Amino acid sequence: MPRVRTKLVSWDEIVDWSMHLADIIKRDGYRPDLIVAVARGGYVPARLLCDFLSVENLASVQSQHWTEAAKVEEKAILKFSYRLNASGLNILVVDDIVDTGDTLKLARDHIEANWSPKTVKTAALQWISPVAKFKPDYYYLEVKEWIWFQYPWTRLEDTYQFIKRMMSEAYKEMGKSEWTNEEVVKGFNEWYGIDVGETYYRRALDVLLEKGVITYDPSRKTYKLVAT
Ligand code: ADE
Repeated sequence: MPRVRTKLVSWDEIVDWSMHLADIIKRDGYRPDLIVAVARGGYVPARLLCDFLSVENLASVQSQHWTEAAKVEEKAILKFSYRLNASGLNILVVDDIVDTGDTLKLARDHIEANWSPKTVKTAALQWISPVAKFKPDYYYLEVKEWIWFQYPWTRLEDTYQFIKRMMSEAYKEMGKSEWTNEEVVKGFNEWYGIDVGETYYRRALDVLLEKGVITYDPSRKTYKLVAT
């Protein structure tokens, strides 16, 4: 059993899910004049929905998560909360996934309060129903058990963060500090139950080297976590 339940999502699945989502929106009779992608996760689904719903207008708002002082919980805020005159427009706000629901709700509320739209509806490819405090107007897949979806647009970022987490936990649990390339790949497969492929492991290790998170010992051919 992997330690972190993870599903590798392919580009083909994204296209398929977005097409089904477009059909659900069409069937409901909603015809958006403007699609707003919630950056960064909503970009690809929003662009595909523009294609499948024949929508020309695409804008974006970006959310960010802040950990408030002395609080464990993260708070979602909008990074660039600009105003746009959308009077008379039907807007569809799009994200990849509704997990806690904070992000999409925040974007929707901001647009409703500040952009003077005619209507605002929300859509996501996936909705994690047991944890989400917010249900999007449209979604394609209801997820009943929390899982990390490894989307194609975060593959490298997720891979290096996953490797970093695996290395630091292994150090805490059993004092393991040296990793060969093969151990990283094997460990990753065991920990996360997915295989992202040789190119991503190599690039992820390069990112961690660049960031100074790990060092490489060429004589031993091993990577080592830098003590933090
Ligand atoms: N972003 C927020 N929650 C997520 C999840 N469960 N999988 C992938 N991306 C996410």
